[in-house]
Amino acid sequence: MFVVMAYKYLVKQPRDDDIRKARILGWCIELLQAFFLVEDDVMDKSYTRRGQPCWFRKENVGLEAINDGIYIESCIYKILKHYIRDTSYYIDIIELFHEITHCTITGQCLDMTVSPPAGTVDFTSYTIEKYNAIVKWKTAFYSFYLPVAIAMYMAGIRDDFNHKCAKDILLKMGEYFQVQDDYLDCYGDEDVIGKIGTDIQDNKCSWLVIKAIQKASPHQLAVLKENYGSSEGTKVSVVKSLYKELGLEEEFRDFEEKSFQEILQLIEKCSGELPKEMFKAFVQKIYKRNK
Ligand code: IPE
Ligand code: MN
Ligand code: MN
Repeated sequence: MFVVMAYKYLVKQPRDDDIRKARILGWCIELLQAFFLVEDDVMDKSYTRRGQPCWFRKENVGLEAINDGIYIESCIYKILKHYIRDTSYYIDIIELFHEITHCTITGQCLDMTVSPPAGTVDFTSYTIEKYNAIVKWKTAFYSFYLPVAIAMYMAGIRDDFNHKCAKDILLKMGEYFQVQDDYLDCYGDEDVIGKIGTDIQDNKCSWLVIKAIQKASPHQLAVLKENYGSSEGTKVSVVKSLYKELGLEEEFRDFEEKSFQEILQLIEKCSGELPKEMFKAFVQKIYKRNK
């Protein structure tokens, strides 16, 4: 939906056929995301996705899910060829999909290597700098820069300056979005988000654990180390009670408000020919989301 929204902001009187192409390109992002998520759920040993069992958990699927994910990815390029091969921006879009895939995979690699396998807890690299790097690469590029960059190429905006301006704002939005994802992993309603949180069990370098490490007393830190990164139900409960003791829900509310204001300021500062209203519309869509 972001592709179509952005395109309508960038081109005043879009032709129906171009809107259709924007929709098709939006669906290509959905396929890219489906590919990442099929693989991500295997790596994170998750249980549900969009209210259904994760694909690899289906009977007769298992590790075949790895190939199925790559299969979905390969369809993107079939669709691009079929529908936009004759456009002036075909190559830009293909290169963009390749580039963004590379960024996301790099982020997923960081995400996995920063968290040691469950059982061995080592918080030395659980810093906010490391966190920001992980979420920038694994989430922000494909979820926020990609849809707008596609619309920009469709509208003939190809210069580095405008792409950099867009990237500055959109990567910030993407970081904010992933902090929300980490919060919802622990505090979201499973029926609403359609997935069961596994960050504590998976030893993830999540925004919540970083805040907990920052705020904990030496005793609380020892309790956290003792109980984080385990699938035992009682240990998970201990971590959740500790989060409550440390006031992490309130900490998140503060972050949400502050970060929202920072993004609005970034938008105001943005020069170049991109409409501020477009960025504002995007950030409004994710502000205080619960799914
Ligand atoms: C997913 O990150 C990022 C990608 C799929 C590229 P997470 O592992 O934090 O996302 P969820 O919570 O499973 O959706
Ligand atoms: Mn993951
Ligand atoms: Mn995951």
